[in-house]
Amino acid sequence: MTGFPVDRPRRLRRTEALRRLVRETELKTGDLIYPLFVIHGHNVKNPVPSLPGIYQLSIDNLLPEVEEVVGLGIPAVLLFGLPAEKDELGSGAWSPDGVVQQAIKAIKKEFPELLVITDVCLCEYTSHGHCGVVSDGRVLNDPSLEFIARTALSHAEAGADIVAPSDMMDGRVRAIREKLDAHGFTETPILAYAAKYASAFYGPFREAAGSAPQFGDRRSYQMDPANAREALREIELDIEEGADMIMVKPALAYLDVIRLARENFNCPLVAYNVSGEYAMVKAAAANGWLDERQVVLEILTAIKRAGAGNIITYFAKDVARWLK
Ligand code: PBG
Repeated sequence: MTGFPVDRPRRLRRTEALRRLVRETELKTGDLIYPLFVIHGHNVKNPVPSLPGIYQLSIDNLLPEVEEVVGLGIPAVLLFGLPAEKDELGSGAWSPDGVVQQAIKAIKKEFPELLVITDVCLCEYTSHGHCGVVSDGRVLNDPSLEFIARTALSHAEAGADIVAPSDMMDGRVRAIREKLDAHGFTETPILAYAAKYASAFYGPFREAAGSAPQFGDRRSYQMDPANAREALREIELDIEEGADMIMVKPALAYLDVIRLARENFNCPLVAYNVSGEYAMVKAAAANGWLDERQVVLEILTAIKRAGAGNIITYFAKDVARWLK
């Protein structure tokens, strides 16, 4: 016979020592990936209004930031670039001396042990703000692949440890793998933004990265938030094409998708705690409506509990400090 009064789950909650002993999920600094926005120019440190604490940094200001990240024990950064000029094709994305390529070299020179992951996408570099080649108001799939693959190759050549395509074109993981392999980068892993939804939670990021689409939206390439089975299909295809790691994005409103991804696939799983998720907490905390530290730890622990192994988060530095 079980049940009360023999069964008393509260016995194991009585003290912090007991709770710690039976805790199922542990958030660690080693799980975290910190996004960084590198901008062309010198001595630039532009605050992003909707992301308090996050800046667009020129390389000279990026390095002290990276030093702090390394000092806190965060193992990886995710780089986004803001180029001096944009054009129709987004050619700044694969320029050998583009802003991200220079940043990778500068970081790897000073901090060789830090993992540098690069976001591979065209939207920060195209005048229209879309993630691929545009013709007659449509985002074309196949013609975009060569440019996306070139971008990934240029990141690998500059020294990126992992390339992370976020454009959601079909076939881009294969195109990148083939391009990398053909140039001898057989050891560079691909972290695929595999299940990436067309989400309003990216709003603050587009301000940070200057990448808002100039017409229309991204719903013809990013996923419909209503779909979960389709996420499994997307992930399956990316793994077949050669993805080494997969991502679900956003995280908080998609914990079910994270869980499904964890249960169905065996490769490392990353969740992106996106800009809007950060902005919501920051705004509420600034009003005194939420305890920021408690809420952030609860959210990130929930993302891990759902099944993510790593979390990309703008809170990474704060969390590293809190967990010290
Ligand atoms: C680029 C990209 C976006 C994000 C990461 N890579 C924006 C988008 O798809 O519009 C969003 C990240 C965030 O909101 O924190 N394609």
